[in-house]
Amino acid sequence: MIFIQLLLLAVNAIMPIPISISQGYQTARISRICEVKFFSTQEFPDHIVKLLLHYHELITYDEDCDFEESIQNTNIKIEGALKFEISIKNQEQLYWVTSTNEEAYELQIDENLNVKIQANNHWGLARALDTVNQLAINNEIQNLPIYISDEPQYVHRGIMIDTARNFLPVKLIKRTIDALVINKLNVLHWHITDDESFPLLLSKYSQITNNSKFWKDGFFTKQDVQEIIEYASIRAVQIIPEVDTPAHVHSWGISPDLQSIVITCDTNIKQYGQLDPTLDQTYEVLTSILQDIDDMFHKVQFIHFGGDEASIQCFEQKPSIKEFMTQNGISNYFDLQAYYRKKQKDIWKNQIKSQKKIIYWYNKKDQLPADQDDIIQWWGLSSQLNEVKGRSNQFILSDYHPLYLDTGVGNAFGDRYDKYQGWKDVYKWNPSIPHNFQGTILGGESLLWGETNNQNTHFQKLFLRSSILADTLWNPDQKQDELFPKFAKRLSDMEDRMNKYDFPVSPFTHSYCKRQLDLCFPESYSTKLKLFFMFVIVYLI
Ligand SMILES: *[C@@H]1O[C@H](CO)[C@@H](O)[C@H](O)[C@H]1NC(C)=O
Repeated sequence: MIFIQLLLLAVNAIMPIPISISQGYQTARISRICEVKFFSTQEFPDHIVKLLLHYHELITYDEDCDFEESIQNTNIKIEGALKFEISIKNQEQLYWVTSTNEEAYELQIDENLNVKIQANNHWGLARALDTVNQLAINNEIQNLPIYISDEPQYVHRGIMIDTARNFLPVKLIKRTIDALVINKLNVLHWHITDDESFPLLLSKYSQITNNSKFWKDGFFTKQDVQEIIEYASIRAVQIIPEVDTPAHVHSWGISPDLQSIVITCDTNIKQYGQLDPTLDQTYEVLTSILQDIDDMFHKVQFIHFGGDEASIQCFEQKPSIKEFMTQNGISNYFDLQAYYRKKQKDIWKNQIKSQKKIIYWYNKKDQLPADQDDIIQWWGLSSQLNEVKGRSNQFILSDYHPLYLDTGVGNAFGDRYDKYQGWKDVYKWNPSIPHNFQGTILGGESLLWGETNNQNTHFQKLFLRSSILADTLWNPDQKQDELFPKFAKRLSDMEDRMNKYDFPVSPFTHSYCKRQLDLCFPESYSTKLKLFFMFVIVYLI
């Protein structure tokens, strides 16, 4: 009986669900919103002040409150105000984390709105601040005192955006980062370039950008990139740049002096291009571009090399490639791609001397080499992970069903392109791993390819579906035990929160159902719960 009561009384609809939460019965009003105070016995470094400023803006959203007054070096007790006492082990600014423990936090809120946060670093602090912001609904916090001890299950929880098919301005990318943070997502995978454009200004080969950009200022400078990385780091999000080769490079060959390194694959629209892996000039250009990427993205952990969808028919169009293969004992086009990968990696590791680890898209039937330290981004279904179960690589899961957010609205030519993946499809998805799987799952990403996306559709396509992915990757186990109406309540609150902060997300249902979640979303999701309720009913009778 007590257990059921706890289930019903647990009204705090935090998304994602904290790993461990215990709460009481008191409610405290936040009557003095502007008086929010941040206190620590240590002095806050600049990046933490900026993080606090960000959450100050979110917490005091409807008010016009002064931030300067909030940072305190004494622990002032003001009634009706949120008073944070923050303690952080490592004050250093981080651009990524490598273990879930680095985002862990402990949070205590008492009946007098004293908020105690303990975290290992500013990433954990960001997650804790977000939880507090979620708890403070309608200027009050219920179920006090609250004690939360939290840590994500997966270290890699992200989305991918694509700035090559339709350009996305810096401002929108920053807003996207803001949206990630209030979902406790921590990765922005940035598919920067593709066939259609190369909107990143290069140092030596700036003509690639200039000849492929869609409008005058439709490109990113080194300064933009650094601004985005900094903005993300303060909010505890890592940026992963992707420059896809050897396919998806039509944009490289638009300039007359670079035409020879790109094979224009013979389709009617002449839109697809592949690097000619047999030419010296190809590696000259590639080296310069990779050097630029390593310079501009100096502070990131990974580089994504793409490596997907190279077409054999495209290579076949150029007879000199076949000759080169014969002369060099390369027997097929997969070996040719392996040859390219080897050279690309040699440039990256030995010439540029970059320490950044490499991510590749999975390629069908696993026909291309991946070294032990490469990370594989899996776009197949989790149920097909069997194909690579002997590999001990690290994996990022991006199952095309349901984690491709661009499907169901037609492709670039208005033709039918797959089925739309609804929010319940994402809800049902779990990072399920086959028996005897030798690799490690770092986490997952939902992917928003950009053919039919721009700033008008961006947030609608990303959210709330990515909020659900965030929920799953943070705490997959408890979701299995949660009542469906309770999940719907958390989703509904997330929708309200995102609307409050002006993210134009898609509504997950109509307003009638939003008011009657138990009516519209009655069923329990897992059989385990159904059994539990049958047991409870039998017990009560
Ligand atoms: C391309 O555009 C950039 C910025 O507008 C300019 O600095 C650069 O010189 C241009 N490159 C070429 C080859 O015209």
